[in-house]
Amino acid sequence: MCGIIGYLGTREAAPVLMDGLRRLEYRGYDSAGVAVVSPGAEVASVVKCAARVEQLIEQLRTDMPAGSLGVGHTRWATHGKPTVLNAHPHTDCGRRITVVHNGIIENFRELREELEGAGHEFLSDTDTEVVPHLIEHHYRGDFVAATRHALGRLRGAYALVMFSLDEPELLVGARLNAPLVVGLGEGEYFIASDIAAIVAYTKKVLVLGEGEMVVVTSLGPVVTSLDGIPVEPRVLHVDWDVSQAERSGYPHFMLKEIHETPEAAANALRGRLDRQGHVEFTEFEMDDERLRSLEEVRLLGMGTSLHAALAGEHVIEDWAGLAARAQDSSEFRYRRPVLGGNALVVAITQSGETADTIVALRAARATGALGVAVTNVVGSTAARDADGAIYLQAGPEIGVASTKTFVAHLVSLYLLALRLATARRRMSPERCEELAAELRSLPDAVRHLLAGEPEIARLAHRYAGYRNFMYVGRGLAYPVALEGALKLKEISYVHAEGTSGGELKHGPIALLDAEFPVVAVCTASPVREKTVGNVHEVVARGAPVLAVVSEGDRSLEGVASDLLEIPRTGEAASAVLASVALQLFAYHLAVELGRDVDRPRNLAKSVTVE
Ligand code: AGP
Repeated sequence: MCGIIGYLGTREAAPVLMDGLRRLEYRGYDSAGVAVVSPGAEVASVVKCAARVEQLIEQLRTDMPAGSLGVGHTRWATHGKPTVLNAHPHTDCGRRITVVHNGIIENFRELREELEGAGHEFLSDTDTEVVPHLIEHHYRGDFVAATRHALGRLRGAYALVMFSLDEPELLVGARLNAPLVVGLGEGEYFIASDIAAIVAYTKKVLVLGEGEMVVVTSLGPVVTSLDGIPVEPRVLHVDWDVSQAERSGYPHFMLKEIHETPEAAANALRGRLDRQGHVEFTEFEMDDERLRSLEEVRLLGMGTSLHAALAGEHVIEDWAGLAARAQDSSEFRYRRPVLGGNALVVAITQSGETADTIVALRAARATGALGVAVTNVVGSTAARDADGAIYLQAGPEIGVASTKTFVAHLVSLYLLALRLATARRRMSPERCEELAAELRSLPDAVRHLLAGEPEIARLAHRYAGYRNFMYVGRGLAYPVALEGALKLKEISYVHAEGTSGGELKHGPIALLDAEFPVVAVCTASPVREKTVGNVHEVVARGAPVLAVVSEGDRSLEGVASDLLEIPRTGEAASAVLASVALQLFAYHLAVELGRDVDRPRNLAKSVTVE
């Protein structure tokens, strides 16, 4: 949603805030602002703009505020249009308390009414502005006590960073249903929405827990619950480098991250899969007996993660013979889930912070189900809320469109399915070995595919004039088709829909004509022939077809308008390779159309509000 950062230390705060905001921009980018204060100052210097971080930085370059305490914000608007007045930081009437916020204060209307009744004057339309006014309202000479009091009255989701001119030796952070981390430097401290914003300065990071507050002074951080009970801080050592969160010469993060897929796949497999197909997860280990007692697996996710869930559903049923169901977390959370002690709930979330998925995971666990989070972010809310975690180990993903982490999710879910299949004795040792070999060959196969990028770029150029696309697949290629369509629409703004080959004839086929191409995923699968049948059907109706096929497959030559070849392998690895091919296709098509690939309109990387 929004990105927030705070700094307290010995160097000038403004450059640190600018740097952090640049790295947080993927979280939202419709307006930005900073507030900086120097010791003894009567007012904080506040600079805001209703544009991207780059413009804020331009403004700051000509008028750099001095001081070594400050906060910054990059916004993804929820309440109030992206204007300068609505941009953060927000302050109280006396301009002594300064706040940046990520999340939604659900009861802001009633609080605002109450505060206005008490004489507070509001300048913006945001929900956030109630926070500094509420702190001001409760202030009796102790900023931390007033903040605690104010937080007790907020409902909804927040990650907040704030300071007061009356106690400029303090930087205060708090979180409820939104992520916040504290970077521990040498005599300097950072509070931010995520590690990428501060990893250039320190690799020692304290992950603030749900419902916790941190008060940072030059002596270090003190963590408590929101009502003041001391909490033992959880400090992590970050094992990735700032260069991994930079573009390293690629024109876009998305392209860089697609090219990091071989390593992402290798890291998801690393130390977990032996040649016989035995799987071991260090952070989530269950004995075979428990796995045998499972009666159901429910996979929850949103967007790309929901598509990974659909692939997981397929392989868990197919390989482990266990009932599995993928569900949209936002729908699941408002049902009365029928689950129980013999269900395994798998929360699929790259960020580990997607609000719908976290609430759904909690609701599922409340029924007694065992919960595991499959996530890229160590210490994220989903990882902490679950009984165990399977970490993707894919490194930071900055591009708003998920790419390498989709692959890491697929690989991780394949491993989970294999683990369940062996525990439940549903797979022969020969098949286990064969699958292990197929998965272990994935990093090289992806490298081979990436070497063919110029041909995919040529195809993207050829199809860039169309305004509608239909993606079709069956079996494991069905979620691949859904994800291919999502990738195209989110970064190119071209209409695309995904359907199963079977569903096509039940309605979507009516849309097709010479101006509505079909992308058909016809790679290795027991139902491949059926998808080939779909290709013939749509060609007969005049639709151009781009068929994704295994290398050397000429069966659709002369039928499909174009073939996009991926390395020849089994069904599971083919789903990964076809996904990467379609990511590249979407990427090049969007570039061809001049889109802002890394910052697509209206989207944010991490949807931490409902
Ligand atoms: C996909 O490219 C998007 N980034 C989006 O659909 C994303 O997958 C979704 O918001 C879920 O995010 P999560 O994996 O962090 O939970």
